[in-house]
Amino acid sequence: MNNQTHSTVRLVEPVVDRPRMTVIGTGYLGATHAVCMAALGFEVLGVDVDARKIEALAAGRVPFFEPGLEDLLRETLATGRLRFTQDFAQAAAFGDVHFVCVGTPQTKGSQAADLTYVHAAVDALARHLTRKSLVVGKSTVPIGTAAALTQRLQAAAPAGAAVELAWNPEFLREGYAVADTLTPDRLVFGVTSAWASAQLRAAFAPVLDKGTPLVECDLPTAELVKVAANSFLATKISYINAMAEVCEATGADVNLLARALSYDARIGGRFLKPGLGFGGGCLPKDIRAFAARADELGVGQAVAFLHEVDAINNRRRRRTVDLVRELAGGALQGVRVAALGAAFKPNSDDVRDAPALDVARMLHEEGAVVRVYDPQAMGNARRAYPELAYVDSLPAAVHLADVVVLLTEWDQFRHADPEMMGWLVAQRKVVDGRHALDADAYRAAGWDYRALGRPLMSSTVDLGTADADSLEFALRQVGAAPAPA
Ligand SMILES: NC(=O)c1ccc[n+]([C@@H]2O[C@H](COP(=O)([O-])OP(=O)(O)OC[C@H]3O[C@@H](n4cnc5c(N)ncnc54)[C@H](O)[C@@H]3O)[C@@H](O)[C@H]2O)c1
Repeated sequence: MNNQTHSTVRLVEPVVDRPRMTVIGTGYLGATHAVCMAALGFEVLGVDVDARKIEALAAGRVPFFEPGLEDLLRETLATGRLRFTQDFAQAAAFGDVHFVCVGTPQTKGSQAADLTYVHAAVDALARHLTRKSLVVGKSTVPIGTAAALTQRLQAAAPAGAAVELAWNPEFLREGYAVADTLTPDRLVFGVTSAWASAQLRAAFAPVLDKGTPLVECDLPTAELVKVAANSFLATKISYINAMAEVCEATGADVNLLARALSYDARIGGRFLKPGLGFGGGCLPKDIRAFAARADELGVGQAVAFLHEVDAINNRRRRRTVDLVRELAGGALQGVRVAALGAAFKPNSDDVRDAPALDVARMLHEEGAVVRVYDPQAMGNARRAYPELAYVDSLPAAVHLADVVVLLTEWDQFRHADPEMMGWLVAQRKVVDGRHALDADAYRAAGWDYRALGRPLMSSTVDLGTADADSLEFALRQVGAAPAPA
């Protein structure tokens, strides 16, 4: 559907032109959304049940690492347009549009999504909704959730059916969250009425005015878009990692393969990077929840391949441990391993389902003496895996190491000088779990270099980074980094 301004839509009821917004759940998604909406000129109230998060945000501190977000938080707090609270009655009285951004983690002991937080947030808000308003789900949920939530919401709200529900799935990437929120590549609105459509358009007017493509659809399609997108991305990563397994059996080089494939415009190079695979708070749990929901709907077979995508991804973690063991001479007991990285990807401190920490844990369980270092994720990593040993710098991690293993491709690790690293380690042996190091430079400095899916004597292959995937690009988009000369 083409972009339309809300004035062209035939309305049943008037919309609020500059709606006041609440953002319920101020984690990675919600805090970013609240700050960016305030930056776009709206009055915004962030709501969370976590008192420490609310206090930190209100004081201008982002309780997690996200490039560019803290500066923007401080700027928007200073305008007076952005405030934070734990009070749902205040939120209901304040907001014309309420964004629900709470977590939907994997249920313990099952593959399905846990909707406890979504239900709690909607219930807490609904009982105070005494006037017409729009509740907009942004969390990633199983198909059918929005329809059930609509009934729950309208049954609990004093305003009844005057309260409507829409779904607006979020596609931001941690590490690029500010740019992705201010300049998304598309918006998706799942709506059930002309009024909801017009109210959402008003809420996103500054983004739509930039020409952002909008797809307006029914609720199930909006829910499906998000899990379909994540399933596609996960499949692309696991596809090249499946090829890496074939490479390992044949002596072929997966990096050269990926590069050759990437020149085919129908395939493209983005998300075609072989290595340790995906993790984080979205992709793994989203593909599992999607498969579980598809089973319930009787179409499990249609997405049965997602189980294989997950299995390929998990095998890469075990295979990385195998490579470290091989390089260590066949056994890990007592081997000192420098584990570089803990976050599930660079430019984030998120360690949810992080491949890096999973590998560090497996190495530790096999008796290796593992020292973990990550530029931003140390606090989260310590809390998630207290049994591992952590050090505060790259030199401290590699000091007297028998094997160095790169697990998260932070720039600091990619650009470390192999010669200087070589002076610190006990043995010049490195496993490049992310295909991010300069193999030639390491070999020239006398290192034994190994990477998944690559022959023993492979040399450097530049897999390149799409401009849109670079942090500099994302920061330039929001005016936080200088344009290249
Ligand atoms: N993180 C991402 O990159 C990203 C991207 C797109 C979509 N999503 C989706 O967005 C949702 C949130 O993800 P996240 O990474 O921000 O999670 P998060 O855990 O960082 O944040 C969730 C927040 O919700 C709060 N919360 C829990 N129960 C609440 C309640 N009843 N009322 C108010 N607040 C409550 C928590 O305290 C927490 O601050 C998930 O469904 C996720 O799949 C996340």
